[in-house]
Amino acid sequence: MSHPNRPHDVSFPFSWRFLQTGWRLLFFNQGDWRDDPKQSAAYNRGGYLVEALSHCQECHTPRNPLGGLDRSKPFAGTPHGPEGVLVPNITPDPETGIGNWGKDDLAQMLKTGETPEFSTVAKSMGEAIDDGLKYLTEEDRAAIATYILAQKPIRNAVRAAGK
Ligand code: HEC
Repeated sequence: MSHPNRPHDVSFPFSWRFLQTGWRLLFFNQGDWRDDPKQSAAYNRGGYLVEALSHCQECHTPRNPLGGLDRSKPFAGTPHGPEGVLVPNITPDPETGIGNWGKDDLAQMLKTGETPEFSTVAKSMGEAIDDGLKYLTEEDRAAIATYILAQKPIRNAVRAAGK
């Protein structure tokens, strides 16, 4: 075994194995997404890209005590993300999420890393952009933004310890 047990393997098993090789666009399973005929083509394309291909939830959804995704809080952020970093709430909640971002703001961030608040995302988000998201087409990044901003807003203030 090239990966002896380290403390974080206990709380974050298998589901984060993609981080051991660096994040990249991965097909886990096409079955992770099913089109919703009541939604637009952009929403369904975005849903497929988010849920089956780019796995935003693996980092942006908090985990339950067993290390699985807490499906009651999709995209609501967590102070205990991969490598112990804080992962922000990206639901469209105006106060604790990205409800003040426009679709173009989000699509642009997924290409350049620049946020409408004039900062630049770093850490594993920077890697996700550099290793994959920036290579998507403009249409695909816009579709991701359509899907994310159509999610249920969840109030969840994610703060780093001590802030
Ligand atoms: C490998 C983990 C990981 C994945 C996968 C990931 N993110 Fe992130 N994301 C982060 C981290 C960590 C940050 C915070 C970056 C920082 O502090 O600079 C972040 C920041 C963001 C922000 C900025 C929020 C703000 O308030 O500034 C947005 C928006 C975002 N991610 C959207 C997405 C979307 C959409 C996807 C899927 C296409 C995605 N992320 C996939 C880890 C990830």
